[in-house]
Amino acid sequence: MNRAPNAPLPAKLTPNLGLKMRNTFGFDATAELAYEVTSTNQIAEVLADINHQKTSWRVLGGGSNVILPQKLRGATLLMNILGQEILTSDENSTLLAVGAGVSWHDLVAWTLENDLPGLENLALIPGTVGAAPIQNIGAYGVEVGESIAYIEAYDSKEQTFVTLTKEDCQFAYRDSYFKQHPNRFIVTKVVFKIPKDWEARIYYADLAKQFSENSNPSPEDIFLAVCKIRTQKLPDPKVIGNTGSFFQNPIVSNEQHETLLKSYASLVSYPDAPGTRKLAAGWLIDQCGFKGQRMGSVGVYENQALVLVNHGGGTAQDILSLAKCIQDKVRAEFGVSLQIEPNIL
Ligand code: EPU
Repeated sequence: MNRAPNAPLPAKLTPNLGLKMRNTFGFDATAELAYEVTSTNQIAEVLADINHQKTSWRVLGGGSNVILPQKLRGATLLMNILGQEILTSDENSTLLAVGAGVSWHDLVAWTLENDLPGLENLALIPGTVGAAPIQNIGAYGVEVGESIAYIEAYDSKEQTFVTLTKEDCQFAYRDSYFKQHPNRFIVTKVVFKIPKDWEARIYYADLAKQFSENSNPSPEDIFLAVCKIRTQKLPDPKVIGNTGSFFQNPIVSNEQHETLLKSYASLVSYPDAPGTRKLAAGWLIDQCGFKGQRMGSVGVYENQALVLVNHGGGTAQDILSLAKCIQDKVRAEFGVSLQIEPNIL
């Protein structure tokens, strides 16, 4: 094909690319056609190419929230758009634009080095910046959606680049407009609004405990405390394959919560929207005796029952069979349905 002198380099295309190192479960998956996207300018051409081949496609970020089959048919877009840039800064806030391919944890560390605190509660969450808004990542009382001003994305339905405001994104607990419309948007850039009036958010029990003797922690103190808690509770995907919490914390009516409390006095729950309570799925699974259990190559993590792990050689099928066992037992015991959190591709 003839290219104009200033045309961007095309996205690198690799057939049958192994994805074992690109999904945190460490499943042995192969992408039939993998496009490495390093620039926004490549997207229209990549999609035209995919259209021409009449095949399906999906986007893969850090692979930390997906369950991959052995053969991923069609095209897989590996998002590797990098870079971060301060757009504006006034006495109230800073607008920070970040490429979708930047590592989430690296961004959190960078914001602290550059005196832009606010994301420290979300330290050590695996994955990329572009993937963070899809499931509205959250931890220790903070969700990413709160800090997002707007998002730039390619809308494959309208075949054009769009800007979605925070309101357009419809962020909710582990949910967003992107998650509700899978395979429509390709997030290219996330623009954060970081307020200048920083306040420590350490009311989440695990974090509060770390600061029982320091009521005035710095953003760096919180960053280190979150890293410490996560390292103790959650398995390092480089050592043992996992996608963090495998199920969402289920939301039940106040009435159902009251009824459960009568039978299970130690039931763990949090306040949620009026009329509802959020139950700790980890507690429910733990009560069913699954913690530390193995089923062939996969199992339930020994320190946190909400995390399913691949001990090595496991497959998507193995994990989904284990998940079904857990869902059935939790439903039989508590009458509560558990929703799987990662995307099943
Ligand atoms: N619990 C048990 N047994 C267990 C696990 C938990 O009894 O095996 C109880 C704990 O005692 C605790 C409660 O359940 O009282 C909640 O556990 P934890 O504090 O570990 O938090 P979580 O609800 O399991 C959520 C998020 C995590 C996030 C943490 C901290 C979801 C689905 N998960 O976990 O997010 O890091 O809170 O804010 O909302 C992720 O999404 O991948 C993730 C790790």
